[in-house]
Amino acid sequence: MALLNILEFPDPRLRTKATAVELVDDKLRALIGDMFETMYAAPGIGLAATQVDVHKRLLVTDVTPDKSEPHALINPEILEKDGVVISDEGCLSVPGYFEEVERAEHIRVRFLDRNGEQKEMEAEGLLAICIQHEMDHLDGKLFVDYLSEAKRQRIRKKLEKGRRQQSAAVAL
Ligand code: NI
Repeated sequence: MALLNILEFPDPRLRTKATAVELVDDKLRALIGDMFETMYAAPGIGLAATQVDVHKRLLVTDVTPDKSEPHALINPEILEKDGVVISDEGCLSVPGYFEEVERAEHIRVRFLDRNGEQKEMEAEGLLAICIQHEMDHLDGKLFVDYLSEAKRQRIRKKLEKGRRQQSAAVAL
């Protein structure tokens, strides 16, 4: 297992649209293991492959405080959604920022599990929000895209400034 590097906004690689996973094999299962390890270490409740610079349709999530409900969703598709919920969202690729985003309250999603078997799952509340957020990543979309242009630019500038200070520290 290994910790993977998480790309941060406004890295243009986060805008890549992921392609479908064609083969669920040991290599993919190893990536899933690394993604869980990276997500738990961050710590976070969800991570899309896009965020670790792998442009395949794969996401992992566990919204429990005790790591008891890990889900790996390969080629996820939303079959049904209803209701509206607005909550504060953050993102491991936009560290330090939390803003209100509107999502469907309840979803039904179809995906392949880590054995390559087709599954369907109902989700609501935080899990539903998280799956929708991670699926956006697979399409190159970030939660800051739901904010005003002014707010998005303000976050981008602050994150870029933070990174310059970080790289200066490393250079010294
Ligand atoms: Ni995110």
